[in-house]
Amino acid sequence: MKQEISFIPREELKAKPDTASLGFGKYFSDYMFEMDYHNDLGWHNPRITPYEPLTLDPSAMVFHYGQAIFEGMKAYKTPDGSVQLFRPEKNMKRFNESCDRLCIPQIDEEFLLEGIKQLITTEKEWVPDGEGTSLYIRPFIFSTEAYLGVRPANQYKLLVILSPSGAYYGSQLSPVKIYVEEQYVRAVIGGVGHVKTAGNYAASLKAQKKADAGGYAQILWLDAKENKYVEEVGSMNIFFKINGEVVTPKLNGSILPGVTRDSVIELLKYWNIPVREERISIEEVFAAHKRGELEEVFGAGTAAVISPVGELTWKDQSITINDNQIGQLSQDIYNELTGIQLGKKEDPFNWTVKVTSVEG
Ligand code: COI
Repeated sequence: MKQEISFIPREELKAKPDTASLGFGKYFSDYMFEMDYHNDLGWHNPRITPYEPLTLDPSAMVFHYGQAIFEGMKAYKTPDGSVQLFRPEKNMKRFNESCDRLCIPQIDEEFLLEGIKQLITTEKEWVPDGEGTSLYIRPFIFSTEAYLGVRPANQYKLLVILSPSGAYYGSQLSPVKIYVEEQYVRAVIGGVGHVKTAGNYAASLKAQKKADAGGYAQILWLDAKENKYVEEVGSMNIFFKINGEVVTPKLNGSILPGVTRDSVIELLKYWNIPVREERISIEEVFAAHKRGELEEVFGAGTAAVISPVGELTWKDQSITINDNQIGQLSQDIYNELTGIQLGKKEDPFNWTVKVTSVEG
């Protein structure tokens, strides 16, 4: 039997931020979804509760051994005023894959999605409707058991918080500069790179700082073994358009299987544009540029959507892609994906899921 989701009201609602100044991940709505796990009780006490600071034991295992995973998804306001999600079942599935890899107990995917829908319905006034905006949804789980031995914890907390957001990189669809990292690695095969665990991002910060200092928006990671094959960018997957064909690194166990990545591949197939998932070396990318065949490079991710890459730097070589302009294909994919997400275009793939109706 499904559990009832209880509602704990707050006394005062917050003022909503100005849509023009949203940025990414700075503002949080009035409520969050919360649920706890105990070995004896399973996942229990699902509730929509005021967004507020948590109290945790200093010995909570997450602080010491890092059992922490998350997801990223978005809710969109459609022209008729209803709210919808984009392929949320894929996020739920990946959340459980992250649980599995981090020895966190599995969640009921359907139930969590229902909880997220109820939370968004409560918070529908927080779904922004300015150009390029959406309500970013961040589900996450971490271990809360107070214990210092190294083993999977017996207690966890699951939270879903909401953040009205605009573009991830300052402005939507402006080409970014990316730096190919050679000293540090993001993930190894057999490790945790293919799931969304907090530690992956902690491990990326040192290189990200280097990139920031050089004026780059993000890092392009290479494989950990040979330092040769392209993996992904800090917060998105990567695509190269070479001589009319699109190539993206094949999922190999250390690359994150992005929902936007998968959607771009599906879209390209639908448009009959050749697309291949295969191992591609950074040398090949630079060689393609030298031959004049590297037409476009773009990243794809939930937060970033489609992000054209205008410049790539590897060792001491910098290349400018498509004159640092938004490529036609990047623009077309962006228009189509955001059109579907925002309910402005037909959704032939059945990717969108309504959360609220016009009245709702
Ligand atoms: C997302 O795209 O939703 C992500 O989780 C990337 C994040 C690190 C901003």
